[in-house]
Amino acid sequence: MSHAEDYEGTRRDFLYHATAATGVVVAGAAVWPLINQMNASADVKALASIFVDVSSVEVGTQLTVKWRGKPVFIRRRDQKDIDLARSVPVSSLRDKSAENANKPGAEATDQNRTLDEAGEWLVMIGVCTHLGCVPMGGASGDFGGWFCPCHGSHYDSAGRIRKGPAPRNLDIPLAAFVDDTTIKLG
Ligand code: FES
Repeated sequence: MSHAEDYEGTRRDFLYHATAATGVVVAGAAVWPLINQMNASADVKALASIFVDVSSVEVGTQLTVKWRGKPVFIRRRDQKDIDLARSVPVSSLRDKSAENANKPGAEATDQNRTLDEAGEWLVMIGVCTHLGCVPMGGASGDFGGWFCPCHGSHYDSAGRIRKGPAPRNLDIPLAAFVDDTTIKLG
């Protein structure tokens, strides 16, 4: 086995374990009916939207789906997560932008990061803004949110970077509720 193959294998194993450690459920094939069409061109794949059924996501848990080749975290936060995130002044944050594709240019308040006004639903690209590992969820790290073990980046319960080398908050993709239990990504 070449060194490169060896590295790839190690990386795959690591990513698998990192994802498994978050205790998430990776949704099945029903979640991406468009993307999985075998002959879809690269352009079609890039534009594809998916609809995610979140009816089974309990308060305090996270669903991870794959979209446009990346993990997307759909976190249903409990009141503790919400209160913690809303108690943080934007002035104390490293990245003061909401990094929310639904609200370009907005500042990084918790309200500007969540999908609903009450702040229960947080949808983010699950890729560390340092070098692209998949952070661990489940109230991980020093700020009750996500922790990236690759180089020690800590994100808070709104997915905002608080400590470690990552420069930006976790990105929020285009997303919206289309009915009470379905989120459209893209
Ligand atoms: S890739 Fe996440 S801390 Fe480096």
